[in-house]
Amino acid sequence: MKSHNIVSLIRKKRDGERLSSDEIRYLIRQYSRDKMPDYQMSAFLMAAYLNGLDDHESASLTREMLHSGTVLDLSEVPGIKVDKHSTGGVGDKTSLILAPIVAACGVPVPMISGRGLGHSGGTLDKLESIPGFNVNLDLKRYVEVLKKHKLVLIGQTEEIAPADKRMYSLRDVTATVESIPLIAGSIMSKKLAEGIDALVLDVKFGSGAFMKTREDALKLAQRLVSIGEAFGKRTIAYLTSMDQPLGNRIGNWLEVYESIECLNGGGPEDLLEVTHLLAGTMIHLGGKAGSVQEGIACSKRAVRDGSAMQKLRDITTEQDGSTEYFDRPDDYPVALHHFDVTAEADGYIMEMDSYAIGMAGVELGAGRKSMEDAIDPVAGIILEKKIGDQVQRGETIARCFTNKERETDSVRQMLQDAVTVGSSRPDVPALITDTVTRDGVTPWS
Ligand code: URA
Repeated sequence: MKSHNIVSLIRKKRDGERLSSDEIRYLIRQYSRDKMPDYQMSAFLMAAYLNGLDDHESASLTREMLHSGTVLDLSEVPGIKVDKHSTGGVGDKTSLILAPIVAACGVPVPMISGRGLGHSGGTLDKLESIPGFNVNLDLKRYVEVLKKHKLVLIGQTEEIAPADKRMYSLRDVTATVESIPLIAGSIMSKKLAEGIDALVLDVKFGSGAFMKTREDALKLAQRLVSIGEAFGKRTIAYLTSMDQPLGNRIGNWLEVYESIECLNGGGPEDLLEVTHLLAGTMIHLGGKAGSVQEGIACSKRAVRDGSAMQKLRDITTEQDGSTEYFDRPDDYPVALHHFDVTAEADGYIMEMDSYAIGMAGVELGAGRKSMEDAIDPVAGIILEKKIGDQVQRGETIARCFTNKERETDSVRQMLQDAVTVGSSRPDVPALITDTVTRDGVTPWS
C-alpha cells in the first residue's frame, strides 16, 4: 500500500474530489492501527457526509471496514448461505420468524444481529427474552451450530468489522450518522463478514424508520444492493413502510409471542406478508425455489407442516434456551402494571406515529435510551387497532405492560398523541412499495 498524507486526503474529500481505493485503504488502515487519531477520522467522516461517496468509494470503504476484522469462511457449510438485514423499526420481528422458516426449507441462515436502541428494537434483545437463550457464541461454535441446524443466531463479536464499531461511535457524536454511503458501508461490512453468499434487505421508510421518506430509503437500498453485488453476493432489497408498527405487539417477549403465533399458523396479516416475502426471496436466492413466488409457497408450507416451529425449538435448545413457554406462552411472567389507552372519539384510526409508539415502549422498559440501559423483557404494548380500523369512544386502542408504575400517565399521553382518530376511513399506507435488484427498481404491485 502506497503511503499518503492523511491531511491531504481529508482535504481532497472536503473539496469534493473522489478518493481512490488505495487512498481509502490507507485512511481506514491507519485508523485501525491507531496511526490516525479520532479527530482526523471525524473530519474525514464529516467531509464524506457533506460531499458524499460514489459507488466506487463506497465499495472501497466497505471493503476496508470488512477487512479490519475477521471475514468468516463458511465454505465447509454446504449450501448457499443467505441472511436478511432490516434497517430497523417498531414491532419488526420478521427475523425471529423467517430465520427458522428459511432454515427449515434447507437454506443455511448465518444470522448476526444487533440490539435495539431508541425507538427501534433489536433481534438479540428479543431472543434473550427466551429464558437462557445464549447469543454470545464464539465464531467456532457459530460455524458448528450453522452446520448442524442450518441456522445460528448470535450477536456482533469484537472480531467482526472492528473499524465500523469505532467509526460508528464517532459518527454518533459528530452528527454524521445520517449519511447514505456511511450507513451502507457500516451495514454491509458487518453483513459481508458473516460469510454469506446472498442477502435480502428490508429497507424501511416512514415515521418509525431511519429513513423518513421513500426517496431516501430508495437511495439507501440502491447503494446497499450496489455494494452487495460489487462483492459478488446476490442482493435484493424491498422498501417497506414503517408508517405504523409491523404486527400488533411491541416489546421483547411480546414480539417472541407474536412470532410463535405466526410459526403456529396465526399472526397478523401485515407481519405475515412482509415475513413470507423476505423468507421467499431468501429461499429463492438460496437455490431452493425457482422464483420468489415459489419461495413464498415454500415458506408458507414450512409453517403449515410445523417444520419451521420445530426449527425454532431446535435452535433454542442448541443455544441453551428453554422452550417451556413456546407451548404455553401465556404462562410467561407478567409485568406488574397493565393499563389501556382508549379512543377519545368515535371514528377511524387515521395515523399512528411509529416513532412515538416505539419511544413509549422505551419508557415502559422495552427499549433503551443508551447502550448501557437494561431491557425489561415483559414490558411493551399490544395494539388492538391499526390504521383504517373503526373505533368507538372508550374502546381500547393499545394495552400497555410495565414494571415502572410512575411512567403510566406520561406513556398514556404519549400514545394518545401518537394515534390520530378522524371521521372518515383513511387509505391504509402501502406496506411494500418497491423491489431493488442489480437490474433496477420495480414498483411493487
Ligand atoms: N445501522 C448500522 O449498522 N450502521 C449505521 O450506520 C446505521 C444503522
